[in-house]
Amino acid sequence: MPIVSMQEMLGHAFKERYGVPAFNIFNDLTLEAILAAAVEARSPVIIQTSVKTVKSIGSDVLFGMWTEMTRDIPVPVSLHLDHCPERAVISECLAKGWNSVLFDASALPVAENRRQTIEVVAEARRYHAGVEGEIEGIQGVEDDIGSDEASKLQSLEVALDFVRVTGVDCFAPAIGNAHGMYKSEPKLDAQRVSDIVAVIPVPIALHGGTGLTDEQFKDLIARGCAKVNISTAVKITFMKANLAFLRDAEAKNKWDPPSLFRAVRQEVKNLALKHMQTFGSEGKAW
Ligand code: 13P
Repeated sequence: MPIVSMQEMLGHAFKERYGVPAFNIFNDLTLEAILAAAVEARSPVIIQTSVKTVKSIGSDVLFGMWTEMTRDIPVPVSLHLDHCPERAVISECLAKGWNSVLFDASALPVAENRRQTIEVVAEARRYHAGVEGEIEGIQGVEDDIGSDEASKLQSLEVALDFVRVTGVDCFAPAIGNAHGMYKSEPKLDAQRVSDIVAVIPVPIALHGGTGLTDEQFKDLIARGCAKVNISTAVKITFMKANLAFLRDAEAKNKWDPPSLFRAVRQEVKNLALKHMQTFGSEGKAW
């Protein structure tokens, strides 16, 4: 059962300069469809859960689904807790078996964020789990977390100090990226990624993947973005596939749930496959 740590997964990707797709799932269907895409594409994949998903499904059921669906899976997979400001949820998921967490203390002053992130890293190490850290909020609200206001940006020195002192395994800088749909063309500070990894070779997490172009993905991955997050696109694909199928079902007055699930699964799987090709993770399973 190749469940691997985030550290190992991003280590390969960072060295070879491809991006591991990190998809947010929110139910059994999205989880299964994305794992199926990873198997078909021979791609490593990170499955992410928001705090909202953990709370709505429950960590026991969620982790049970994960364990059953990844039993004997032939590609490297890893389970990650996305943006989590709540220490209790971090502890719950680490104890349950999540492979890594994003401790999101970006709303706190950097010194307090740093102090608590050091504690979270120590806690995660007891489970051989990884930690992603951030010091600036990524713009946009996702699953009730975050803000639509742009966050205060920190200097390169502050960012490097945070990574060095906390020992996080992955760092998520704000580079003009945003969660949700971009309201206008994003102006990305790709150089910031290069500046960070030139000093500390830490894998960078690219948030706000939905709406970026293939060129933007490829450029940022080449600079060191080894983890590429996609959430909104999974939600939109899921909802629109349901809508299209249900409209058709209504027109035909034919109501068969398994056919609905099959149709939606295929669309979600196709979305995942497309990103695996773009990010260069296709065929990289080891
Ligand atoms: P999108 O919702 O823009 O794809 O961003 C996903 C993300 O960064 C999750 O943390």
